[in-house]
Amino acid sequence: MKRVPAAKIPESEASETIPELIKSGIADKTAKISKEEGFRLVPVVPERVDEISRKYEICETDSHTLERLTPQEQILYRLSDLPADITEKLPTKWESAGEIIILKMDESCREFKETIGRAYAEVLNANTVCADISGVSGEFRRPSMEILYGNKTESVRPENGILYDFDVTKVMFASGNTDERMRMRTLDCTGETVVDMFAGIGYFTLPLAKFTGLRKIFSCEKNPESYGFLLKNIELNGVKNKVIPILGDNRSLPGKKFADRILMGYVQTTSLFLPKALDLIKPGGIIHYHDTFPTGEHEKYVNDAFSSVCKDYEILGIREVKSFAPGISHYVADVKISDRFS
Ligand SMILES: C[S@@+](CC[C@H](N)C(=O)[O-])C[C@H]1O[C@@H](n2cnc3c(N)ncnc32)[C@H](O)[C@@H]1O
Repeated sequence: MKRVPAAKIPESEASETIPELIKSGIADKTAKISKEEGFRLVPVVPERVDEISRKYEICETDSHTLERLTPQEQILYRLSDLPADITEKLPTKWESAGEIIILKMDESCREFKETIGRAYAEVLNANTVCADISGVSGEFRRPSMEILYGNKTESVRPENGILYDFDVTKVMFASGNTDERMRMRTLDCTGETVVDMFAGIGYFTLPLAKFTGLRKIFSCEKNPESYGFLLKNIELNGVKNKVIPILGDNRSLPGKKFADRILMGYVQTTSLFLPKALDLIKPGGIIHYHDTFPTGEHEKYVNDAFSSVCKDYEILGIREVKSFAPGISHYVADVKISDRFS
């Protein structure tokens, strides 16, 4: 391995001196800083060796290149000239949707948002970096995103054989629901008529339509922006012959007792939509009922919701989709409505 000159900076001075060396162009930004018995060995660009040798001892070190660092380390290295109280709050995790990166950023980092956005974009090879400000809100679950870098906010996210095209600033994408989207793909729905009451961009509709053998799925979505992406995604995934997209409120869906299976992929007010689901479901049909409950108390809450609208049902299983808030989890219950239900 190539040997390069490095300044021996005592550990006690490292946090102050290293950012200075980077800022002044003395440190070689393409090579990795290493440690040796109480010192940090900072690679120095050859033409500045004389200058820095007046203050620090110079030694030789292996030229580990920055590419060997983890992306987190590379980002930290690039941003090491920001104040220490900012660098310690930099996000160490992120989500990606195609070439778009989404970070949860501490409020105090906002002052440096362009610099931070650029560093994440360059290290992670992204063309746009957004900060998730306050999660999703409202009936349409609209996200609240601030663009830190770039301007391309629509992208295609591949996941388990499905392509999801969406704009991260306009519609939500719950990455915590990946296992549930995967589970939907593995159901056997041969010959079934299915209703997705909260279709969004096709989160559950697409894996069901593509992989489960269903006959038709009616996919209802109220938000015109999400509906636009649902149409695109139906096309993109080649399931036009299976999916009937419907723009509107699911409480206005026509028809009675025709669905073998219903998806209720919505939380917090889901029980308000149960009477409509029971209008649509066939005797013997299955409802995938999502909602948030105090963690561990799911069975009681699912029974409360169903027993108030239907006397004869069987809970086939309940699984935790993800943690939602401290002490609260998002669950999905598979509930079979009795053959005798009328
Ligand atoms: C965003 S999805 C929920 C998350 C999704 N199931 C997942 O796995 O990520 C919920 C969708 O239901 C839609 N929606 C809310 N109320 C509705 C209604 N009454 N009728 C039809 N769609 C509705 C929202 O616009 C939203 O797109």
